[in-house]
Amino acid sequence: MKPHVSIEPSILSADFARLGQQAKEAEDAGVEGIQIDVMDGHFVPNLTFGPGVVKSLRKSVGIFLDAHLMIDNPHIFLEEFARSGANRIIVHQEVCRDLPRVLQSIKKLGVEAGVAMNPETPVTTVESVLDIADSVQVMTVRPGFAGQRFMGDQLSKIQQLRREIDQQHLKASIVVDGGIDPKTAPLVVKSGATVLVAGSSIYNQSGSVAENVAALRSSIATTVAAINYSA
Ligand code: DX5
Repeated sequence: MKPHVSIEPSILSADFARLGQQAKEAEDAGVEGIQIDVMDGHFVPNLTFGPGVVKSLRKSVGIFLDAHLMIDNPHIFLEEFARSGANRIIVHQEVCRDLPRVLQSIKKLGVEAGVAMNPETPVTTVESVLDIADSVQVMTVRPGFAGQRFMGDQLSKIQQLRREIDQQHLKASIVVDGGIDPKTAPLVVKSGATVLVAGSSIYNQSGSVAENVAALRSSIATTVAAINYSA
């Protein structure tokens, strides 16, 4: 079966003074969703936005809103992000003592549940929740900033996740996030990724959002055509 590979621009690279408009540009360019990078200045050395921005963006676009919580104690904010209109909430494995419980709490709010892993975090730490999680996110940069170099050593992690999800006939999507552009996108798709989060390759001075989304989409077309998943 051919995979459907989704593109989710990360608004960390967007113009914060025009977030609604930049989200709309992405929606009009045909992306499947938008990833909102929530940072607390503690789990990651950067500070961004909270549920209020999700609430505002919910009024600007109809597409999938993915709240990526790069924060300590994410369980405290789950309800607020769900109420703000997030369609998925992604928490980091590194800060969840009881990951199954946190993921179940997200699902009970009627929102998709995702778990993200930093580059140094092994796949073994999420194997026990692959049947609960709606998505597993592999960070291909150290979280905190856009425009960083893609970490090729994460490809084997994506491949391992693809194997385990397919062998168990599970539905979890594999999200990749960090340094995704027309050069690196085919590599992660070939490894088994099904959602591409891209920031600086979508929001930049060298092209419009529409042009950049189209370039990313066409960079994976041949790779997707050559893939046949068992599931
Ligand atoms: C990093 C964020 C990423 C980042 C991606 O902490 O989670 O989503 O914004 O930006 P690029 O695509 O420029 O690496």
